[in-house]
Amino acid sequence: AMSGTALAKERKELQRQEAEAAAKEQATTDRSTQWNDPMANSDNHGPASNMRGSKVGPSKVESTPEWKLAVNPRDQSYGKRVNMPIKEQRRSLPVFVLRDQLIESVRQHQILIVVGETGSGKTTQTTQYLAEAGFANNGIIGCTQPRRVAAISVAKRVAEEVGCVLGEEVGYSIRFEDRTSASTRIKYMTDGMLQREIVQDPELKRYSVIMLDEAHERTIATDVLFALLKKALKKRLDLKVIVTSATLNAEKFSTYFNDAPIFTIPGRTYPVEILYSREPESDYLDAALTTILQIHLTEPAGDILLFLTGQEEIDTSCEILYERMKAFGPSVPELIILPIYSALPTEMQSRIFEPAQGRKVVIATNIAETSITIDNIYYVVDPGFVKQKAYDPKLCMDSLIITPISQAQANQRAGRAGRTGPGKCFRLYTETAYQSEMLPTTIPDIQRQNISTTILMLKAMGINDLLNFDFMDPPPINATLTALEELYAIGALDDAGLLTSLGRKMTHFPMDPPLAKVVLAAVELGCSDEMISIVAMLTALNVFYRPKDKQEQADQKKAKFHDAHGDHLTLLNVYNSWKQNGYANSWCFENFIQMRSMKQAKNVRDQLVTIMNRYRHPMVSCGRETDKVRRALCAGFFRNTARRDASAGAGCYKTVVEGTAVYLHPSSALFGKSAEWVVYHELVLTTREYMHWCTTIEPKWLVEEVPTFFKITGVDGTMSKRRQKERIQPLFDRFSAEDDWRLSTQRK
Ligand code: CDP
Ligand code: MG
Repeated sequence: AMSGTALAKERKELQRQEAEAAAKEQATTDRSTQWNDPMANSDNHGPASNMRGSKVGPSKVESTPEWKLAVNPRDQSYGKRVNMPIKEQRRSLPVFVLRDQLIESVRQHQILIVVGETGSGKTTQTTQYLAEAGFANNGIIGCTQPRRVAAISVAKRVAEEVGCVLGEEVGYSIRFEDRTSASTRIKYMTDGMLQREIVQDPELKRYSVIMLDEAHERTIATDVLFALLKKALKKRLDLKVIVTSATLNAEKFSTYFNDAPIFTIPGRTYPVEILYSREPESDYLDAALTTILQIHLTEPAGDILLFLTGQEEIDTSCEILYERMKAFGPSVPELIILPIYSALPTEMQSRIFEPAQGRKVVIATNIAETSITIDNIYYVVDPGFVKQKAYDPKLCMDSLIITPISQAQANQRAGRAGRTGPGKCFRLYTETAYQSEMLPTTIPDIQRQNISTTILMLKAMGINDLLNFDFMDPPPINATLTALEELYAIGALDDAGLLTSLGRKMTHFPMDPPLAKVVLAAVELGCSDEMISIVAMLTALNVFYRPKDKQEQADQKKAKFHDAHGDHLTLLNVYNSWKQNGYANSWCFENFIQMRSMKQAKNVRDQLVTIMNRYRHPMVSCGRETDKVRRALCAGFFRNTARRDASAGAGCYKTVVEGTAVYLHPSSALFGKSAEWVVYHELVLTTREYMHWCTTIEPKWLVEEVPTFFKITGVDGTMSKRRQKERIQPLFDRFSAEDDWRLSTQRK
């Protein structure tokens, strides 16, 4: 906490800087004509009218910045920023007083590291300042986000601030959805999208500025972009790169980027009191909901933020909480329950930003750690877990697992409570657990996840020397070798480790190599028309609607679509049926199908058709010969194959490659059908490893479609010396030729 005089001094200094900034802004005459700057056409009342807080309330001292008034956090007029006109909201952000300095720093340096608390205005303002300063005149200002939700919500917000229609001057681009146009000057996008663009254009010629936002998240795409942009900057001296981070350990970024200067936006944070559980919680969900109710019933006003691990958990908690609140009856003040996660429809997502009458509780994934700022949060409830993708060597693939967060994440979460005033953070774990069980910082994704897609992309860019690639933190050598093996097995690399033409074709599709391979195999086999419908359906989340009170009815409707061969063809039946019914909403309603998911699937399908046409991959229908579809699935998902393990019980399987126990999900069309050999789309770990989207196959298809990987025991595989040296030798003796494709346990 600051002393009174320091506070007064800082306030004065801020006012001075602000007045100066405002005056400068008005004095600037050479403003770009191409960029219509809403901040520039200010109301001509001179600098004084730019003071924040003047609209807060009549009883406030006119010249006191609004945020300083929050010293009394329970002040009724506080936290109502949303009610301010947009221009004033922009001026009230911490980054505003540094606007000119920030622009100047970008002018002077090719790379700038920007550090500032969440909510200081980095994401929404930096792009606009640079556009206002003319940086958008010779190229697009691109800003990457690790998460789709953040890219969309921020683009919406900025479009609103700029005063344009989303998709015009300000737009966004995420996988399967491009909301940009020829007039787009500020483009928010997922880091994965920029990664795809840089493969096609290593110098990113369309862009004048790239802002790698949320760099502390260390997603694989951002990490790869670090290295690729560093390279691009050497060729494009006019390109600017801004790397932003919410955490203070930006030194590492600076060092990596040739000692780039660090621009710090002073935070406006209040103390947060941390409360730990005395004993470890056996049920963190229950503990979390109880804590929320306690806060609601006993603590002063202020919204609550709870961190959970995923959609299912969040939806369930919202329901339980709602029921518990209802049970209290009308004597208890209302609690507005708001979920937020990536798959949530965007209108629902925006609700968390809207002012509400009464206390809000936002139940979020770690998306609310830094990507999204929600005002007025005073209480944070942190169970200490996160759902993370990690490579599972037992399954040879990434799986989502719930793991403890790092200390850095815990502190970031706690910080969310101190944005508007002094807050409280309830940690549902012991202090000992925090000290001794949590890692200081999170391990970057690239050191934890499967990197085949990344390696394929680098190979497609002609980067073959992976061991000397300039990673900030290199992936483990084993992970690189595994990825090379996988890409070889799938036919994307030849035995010298070079990109094949099939591998090149795989990069045409915005999807992981196995799925891209499936589409390409479908082209070969003559069922691409069906396959892209299936792929589109696989990307749509929650196709089937199964409300708690009508489960039986919903299941009956679903069973009508079931295909005897499994879930992929069931999805195809659903899509085709919807299409035959004129894509009607009423059809979805009658059949317990989520209309939104279907629309998304159609949208994805349309995008895929565009890609197919662009690269001249023919669209062919197999009609009734759907065996082709199942065969094509084997070509890409051969690792995701399993054989029934009758000795272990109904619905029990063992994966073909690693022999891991996996299970048929009760919702599968194959449930209770004792199919012998199956291919599945993914494994979902809940109470056990469930195969998600499961289809029957003939084992001989594996050998026929993927001879680089499977072979029949007894037939000798010759291997080039070179391949042995590079360890790309994924030939498995997995089948015995003699006897009914018995599994051979020997690995070459
Ligand atoms: O990037 P950083 O965390 O520094 O801040 P930001 O995302 O630019 O957010 C600045 C402010 O804009 C937040 O405090 C929100 O009040 C507001 N904002 C919003 O209202 N809606 C959004 N979708 C994003 C930001
Ligand atoms: Mg941000």
